[in-house]
Amino acid sequence: MEKSWDNEFQELVKALPKEDGWIGSHLYFYQGFWCPALVLKSFISFQKNFQAFASDVILATFPKCGTTWLKALAYITLYRSHFARDENPLLSSSPHQLVRFLEYDLYLNNPFPDLQNACAYEPRLFATHVPYASLPTSITDSNSKIVYICRNPLDMFISLWLFSTKLRDNNLRPLSPDEAFDKFYHGIYAFGPFFEHVLGYWKASRENPNKILFLKYEDLMEDTNSHLKNLAMFLGVPFTEDEEKQGVVPEIVKMCSFENLKELEVNKKGLHASGIPNADFFRKGEVGDWSNHLTPSMVERLEKLVQEKVNNSGLTFKLSCKTSRIFHPSE
Ligand code: A3P
Repeated sequence: MEKSWDNEFQELVKALPKEDGWIGSHLYFYQGFWCPALVLKSFISFQKNFQAFASDVILATFPKCGTTWLKALAYITLYRSHFARDENPLLSSSPHQLVRFLEYDLYLNNPFPDLQNACAYEPRLFATHVPYASLPTSITDSNSKIVYICRNPLDMFISLWLFSTKLRDNNLRPLSPDEAFDKFYHGIYAFGPFFEHVLGYWKASRENPNKILFLKYEDLMEDTNSHLKNLAMFLGVPFTEDEEKQGVVPEIVKMCSFENLKELEVNKKGLHASGIPNADFFRKGEVGDWSNHLTPSMVERLEKLVQEKVNNSGLTFKLSCKTSRIFHPSE
């Protein structure tokens, strides 16, 4: 059985369009997105075998858009009644250990992982980078909830490029800014193209706002408290008046802040299940850092691309928090 699935998988891979990835291994174009070789098999197992519960919460994100932050916020908010305030699990585990990826972790070496024991508490909380259209139907068709976070594509590109530069195989020559930009422009990176991913969740969230909460990194940065309260409501665990009086909201916000998480010993050492050092998930944590890296012509090309892709969708991106410059497709 396992052998025939292996053979079937090898045949499938041979037929897929293939490109060099940013870190070392390949990307395969499958179901409309560039899937990293490392997770193609586990993604298929997840898609085929995952059985969602109506109570499940799935954190869906595009890489480099605030996954680590969202995992921390959602975990602490959802499970806060289970631990004392001075025993916060974030002090001893990385957000990626607390909320495990489906394709990048649980299904990585096992087509039928023990999902019940993968979560410390009920309801189950998982994470994925898989596009909406490729999620298992048991997630899309059930009452399980999805929280999605995206980020303006200029900052996302810089975050991805600098992250990949750090992790790139030493035997390969570094990816130049122009090469990285070109690949980015054409949507060739893990789970790209970005716009199709974001728009898939954006449209689904507009059709079904009770099922999908759509968040943006920049909005969270600007007013984390309000967005955390909305998140708690959406997850069915609103903050009580007593909690508000006791300052629980700002306490969680501070605990999950970039500055705090980055300095915790647990996030400075150790590796994620995919082999990535925990520390590499924390770089600068700012909105607008793209302006320190992109040339004017790159910005111009990207702005045109954004305009072309998100036109008429109602989706906008904030490019900077300080000036609140908002990119509207009609600009
Ligand atoms: P930068 O590279 O721009 O600093 P992901 O978690 O999806 O991989 O995204 C990583 C990006 O989120 C990085 O952005 C990282 O620094 C930032 N980040 C990590 N933890 C954060 C936090 N608690 N608050 C805000 N940003 C955070």
